[in-house]
Amino acid sequence: MGHLNQRRILLAISGGIAAYKGAELVRLLKKHGAIVKVILSRGATEFITPLTMQALSGEPTHTELLDETAEAGMGHIELARWADLMIIAPATADVIARLAQGRADDLLTTVALATPAPVAVAPAMNQQMWAHAATQDNIQQLVSRGIQLIGPDAGEQACGDVGPGRLLEPDSIIMALNTRYETRLLEGKRVVITAGPTREAIDPVRYLSNHSSGKMGYALASACAAAGANVELISGPVTLEAPDRVVLHSVTSAEEMCEAALALAEGADIFIGAAAVADYRPAVMANEKLKKHGDGLELRLIENPDIIARVAQSPGRPTLLAGFAAETHDLLEHAREKRIRKGLDMIIANDVMAPETTFGSDQNAVYLITDLGEAPLALASKRVIAEQIVAALAAQLVA
Ligand code: PMT
Repeated sequence: MGHLNQRRILLAISGGIAAYKGAELVRLLKKHGAIVKVILSRGATEFITPLTMQALSGEPTHTELLDETAEAGMGHIELARWADLMIIAPATADVIARLAQGRADDLLTTVALATPAPVAVAPAMNQQMWAHAATQDNIQQLVSRGIQLIGPDAGEQACGDVGPGRLLEPDSIIMALNTRYETRLLEGKRVVITAGPTREAIDPVRYLSNHSSGKMGYALASACAAAGANVELISGPVTLEAPDRVVLHSVTSAEEMCEAALALAEGADIFIGAAAVADYRPAVMANEKLKKHGDGLELRLIENPDIIARVAQSPGRPTLLAGFAAETHDLLEHAREKRIRKGLDMIIANDVMAPETTFGSDQNAVYLITDLGEAPLALASKRVIAEQIVAALAAQLVA
């Protein structure tokens, strides 16, 4: 899966003939694993229906600034906060002008002003309108504010003119969106990551485990690969696809994970322990399925190796070691203590009591704790949290 996987993308479609390509764009974004919500400007609804976009995205389509059904009637703020990325495609000359002026006179422009997420614009208009000095000034304004410009393409236009101003084809827009996540922060570095749960066999059909889905670890693997690192991902049993350009090592038990970690971590630049390793395993695994005898079952458990602590003590210790602390109470105290006890450079404190930050959630909110200080990372998708962790690790690596 590429960089759009699990990313929350807000697609805003403005009113031009190219609006129909929005349908294909939604389909492709979904194919790339993105979670897509759609805004249609009033003009766009003349070309494409909210129902079409709803059917393709699987989410209600948004058309009105004042939305009675949204919590506290502030649908535009909720949408603005929800997005990891907003893309306006097609963006007409009028929308580009209104964005440049910072107007907030409909849902699309209001959300573009209110969102903390990065914004991309894919223009589509007549070639003469594109070439006009007013449009070019407006585009320069947007680019100077950090808005990503995608296209336009050149060629034959719906009006019969030939020249620049066509909306880029949806697959080229996807490619451009992907490239924005390609940073070179960890260029050539070797990163080893553990992810997911481990399973500790009781008998051939039963095991002890936990609720880790692997999403956090896989998001980190994807973010490290996008930052140019060579990534080895040691994963317990999960249902996720390996991210692009990541070498996957599938394991089941903590002992298997430990063996793989010690072998792969030697001489690595960064080791990240995102796995929820079972702390205990049955002292003995029964060779046959245990039968019920009506008087309960006693299992003797023995401790599993502490993988990250062993990696920290190994002769080929990676330059940087980062672990997670999944806690249900006294988050920061426990996390600080774990960082020191396990010999880590960074610990990422993760409150797993809150529903939005617990195992399996697509979002997280964490604290980064290092020797240098502590910093909260506000609630965001695991993709965005992973990118922030990667940026912090890259900074620590060169410090
Ligand atoms: O997988 P998700 O559904 O996306 O959920 C993400 C997560 C909650 C699993 C993840 O963000 C997280 O917090 N992972 C660590 C969970 C955990 O087991 O925490 P811990 O406090 O028990 O362990 C502390 C650190 O030691 C962790 O880096 C852990 O990987 C490591 N550890 C723990 C035990 C052990 N035997 N060996 C280890 O290496």
